[in-house]
Parts: sequence; C-alpha cells; structure tokens
Amino acid sequence: MENENPLKKEIELYLEEENIDKEKIRELFEEKLRPISENHLYNFSKLMAYYKCAMMSIETKLNVLDVEFSLKHDRNPINDIKSRLKSFQSIKEKMERQGLAFSVESVEEHLNDIAGVRVVCSFPDDVYMLADALLKQDDITLVSYKDYIKNPKPNGYRSLHLIITVPIFLAHEKRQMKVEVQLRTIAMDVWASLEHQLRYKKSFEYTKEMADELLYCAKLSAELDERMDKLRDLTAQNNE
Ligand code: GTP
Ligand code: MG
Repeated sequence: MENENPLKKEIELYLEEENIDKEKIRELFEEKLRPISENHLYNFSKLMAYYKCAMMSIETKLNVLDVEFSLKHDRNPINDIKSRLKSFQSIKEKMERQGLAFSVESVEEHLNDIAGVRVVCSFPDDVYMLADALLKQDDITLVSYKDYIKNPKPNGYRSLHLIITVPIFLAHEKRQMKVEVQLRTIAMDVWASLEHQLRYKKSFEYTKEMADELLYCAKLSAELDERMDKLRDLTAQNNE
C-alpha cells in the first residue's frame, strides 16, 4: 500500500491555486527523458509547501516584532506585509533563462526567491531596525544582503534585500529554507510598483523620457523619506 502523503492537502491546494495542470508538470519532466512518476510531482509540490511554511514563519516573526515595538513605542513600524510564492510559470521561465535543468533539486539550489516577503515600513529607520532585529534571531542565517537604499540602482530603485534561511520543523527532520525579504518604505513601494507597471506594459514603449522622469521621481521619493525620518525623530522625542 502506498504511504499516505502527509502534505496531500497542501499539494492539492497549491496545484489548484496555481491552476496547474498535473499533465503539464509531467510533460516538463518527460522533456528531460526522466520517467515521470507521482513521486516527482509529489516532491515538487512538497518543496513548494515547505517554502510556504518558511514564508509563514518569517511573516510571524515580523508580526511579533511589530507588536513588540507598538507596545513599547505606541506606533507600528510595519505598514503592510505582502507575501508570495513564485508561480510555477515564473519558476520554469527563470530556470530556462538561466539555462538550468528543471529538477526539484536544481530549483531549490539555484533560486533564492521562491518564497518572497515584502515588508512596507512607515519610515526608513524602521527598515533597518526590522532587518537588524530579524537577523539577530538565532535561527536565521543571512545568505545575502543588498542595500539598494544606501546604493540605489541606476534607475532609482531603492529597497533593502535580504536572502535568509529559516528552519522549518517537520515530523522527522529540520529543513533550512531560503526566503527573500524585501524591506522598503511606503514611498519606495509606490515608486517600485509604478516603475514595474510602466516597464512591463505592452501597450506602449518604455521611453528614455519615462526612465528619466522615473529617476527624478525616485529622487523626490528619497527626499520625502529623509523628511519622514525627521518627523519620526520629532514624534519619538515627544513620546519620551
Ligand atoms: P533576480 O532579479 O530576482 O533574478 O535576482 P537579483 O540577484 O538580480 O536580485 P535583485 O536584488 O536585483 O532583485 C530581486 C527583486 O527585487 C526583483 O525580483 C524585484 O522584485 C525587485 N527589484 C529589483 N530591481 C528592481 C527594479 O529596478 N524595479 C522594481 N520595480 N523592482 C525591482
Ligand atoms: Mg535582478
């Protein structure tokens, strides 16, 4: 008799949410001439379920920090948390772009952003405070730290990017899963959403003029954040 799959429900939910046709995954594995079995499908869906658990764990950690801070300082440093699991289609495309074979092991080894948590903060100082508090936790390991706030990208993009690992505890093993955490302010988030929209719009061409205008907006948004931090200092002084 086949072992009862402990994550059966999670897997079915994932496949359903993603609108994934089981046959499509089969085809993908067959392309590589590997005999496709329920096992491949099971392993891939299981991996996705693990990422989902890791993502939930990071979200909880951030929510705990938010509650603790609000008790101490009477305000919430986190404005919003948005989490997403990379879609099956995007995983496939990214692996293809990088010329990598599509296997469960390879996906886990090479992609750092399957689980993504975006934290939108009220003030720039909150971004660093939260990142430091998260990285100090003894079950978190830092894989990569990219500070696009101190060093914005040439197009003006600002955010703090962390790749970390967090353990998930299963019935018989502990697994370290990678999660990408992007921390940014409300101003940075507005800019990034707009830039993303304009860049990927198919109905018009992304012109140099638009890019220049966006860069100018990025400068304004950085100035706004600086002023916001001043405001935060003032409210902090009043709160002492
Ligand atoms: P990938 O781009 O994910 O392959 O990895 P990378 O090593 O280049 O990571 P990077 O830190 O540059 O960016 C990762 C993620 O940050 C992206 O998937 C986006 O969500 C976001 N990001 C990076 N640059 C930009 C940008 O210029 N504009 C916007 N809107 N988002 C960006
Ligand atoms: Mg990139």
